[in-house]
Amino acid sequence: MKKIAVVGTGYVGLVTGTCFAETGNNVTCVDIDERKVEQMRQGVVPIYEPHLDVIFERNIKANRIKFTTNLEEAVEEAEIIFLALPTPPGEDGSADLSYVLGVAETLGKIIKEYKVIVDKSTVPVGTAELVTEAVAKHANVPFAVVSNPEFLREGFAVDDFLNPDRVVIGTEDEKAKQIMTELYKPFIRDGHPLIIMDEKSAELTKYAANSFLATKITFMNEISNFCEKVGADVDMVRKGIGSDSRIGHKFLYPGIGFGGSCFPKDVSALLKSGKAVDYHFEIIDAVLRVNEGQKTSTVDKLVSYYGDLSGYTFALWGLAFKPDTDDIREAPALYIIEKLLQQRAKIKAYDPEAMENVKALLGDKIEFVDNQYDALEGAEALLIATEWGAFRNPDFDKMKELLATPTIFDGRNIFELDRMETEGFYYSSMGRKTIVPRPVTKEA
Ligand code: UDX
Repeated sequence: MKKIAVVGTGYVGLVTGTCFAETGNNVTCVDIDERKVEQMRQGVVPIYEPHLDVIFERNIKANRIKFTTNLEEAVEEAEIIFLALPTPPGEDGSADLSYVLGVAETLGKIIKEYKVIVDKSTVPVGTAELVTEAVAKHANVPFAVVSNPEFLREGFAVDDFLNPDRVVIGTEDEKAKQIMTELYKPFIRDGHPLIIMDEKSAELTKYAANSFLATKITFMNEISNFCEKVGADVDMVRKGIGSDSRIGHKFLYPGIGFGGSCFPKDVSALLKSGKAVDYHFEIIDAVLRVNEGQKTSTVDKLVSYYGDLSGYTFALWGLAFKPDTDDIREAPALYIIEKLLQQRAKIKAYDPEAMENVKALLGDKIEFVDNQYDALEGAEALLIATEWGAFRNPDFDKMKELLATPTIFDGRNIFELDRMETEGFYYSSMGRKTIVPRPVTKEA
């Protein structure tokens, strides 16, 4: 059992704190937001993340996790202090470290014995050094700063935390290495290692992992665009290359680009970090450029199909950046909406979870409807921007009745081509042939 303080109860802090409590540790979560702390004391999870509520409640009842606004008290009791603070992009796009460094300086003033201070936020290479300097300004006891990046996917964060592919620990302090190894022991299984390295390598591992995955998706998006030009089928190419164990099947799904709170931010930040030391990442630069175009490629297809889009109404299924979340940060759907509005088209949108977030952003610029079918009423065509489960097996007859013409532009390849052919839709998807309904011919 270890005594832990987690500073910052956002997405990462809350998942981290709850999962460490789940493995028998004693956790205190600290936040400056009194209302949020009170809410959490009542057992309310302030974020949407599947399965978190169950283990959250269990650990509150077991007295293994508590909440406070008092940093000093939490730090005094703890052996390990996790910093899970926001690092929003500053004006120039680089991560703003003022929260992290502010708390680090305060820690220097309040620690009275050896502490392990862990950077959990995604921070640029070199941050551990800055945190060390900030703590050292006032500290007169020894301490260690560790970089311990997270690799959590939204919607799967609890499982990713409890069953990690790997745990990365960046420190050269021997005592901290031992403490962190003991802490993570319950999560380490055969073939899923705990890797100890220096701080900078650990910080870079996070950016390299996300940039590699974003590159893999983007590479596939380019192959998909090329498939459309030459009449190849990207699904077949995907299966063909994915079967090579060196490539693997994951993250090869083409679509309207990657979004979310991590990939776009981390890929841009890596490019920026390169510039700071006079290194230009050619690949990363290209990934960002290709992804920009990919997000609105469906609108380009609409323009080449309809010409002038003004006056047309389109149904839009999906607003979240991926299914099973209400997160719309960098969601391709938002870029599609913006471009359609520029073209003076009208939009009727539906999303199972993300509509309130888009309403708050766009107000009445587009129409929001209560279910996926209402979006189709009178619309010229349907656009699919998120692959929600509920969209995968719809009532095709009803869709044909409601749409002005049976036309679908699918940015996520959720339907089989054969099915679209039998149902008689005009169906344009990503990297696959366009299905054009056969004209009805009179029997001789
Ligand atoms: C990601 C990383 O997976 C995670 O390890 C990191 O800690 C945070 O960033 P997340 O943003 O939650 O997680 O979503 P993820 O499921 O990885 O998808 C990211 C984006 O890539 C989405 O927009 C998704 O639609 C897109 N994507 C993913 C594809 O276009 N094709 C794929 O094959 C996979």
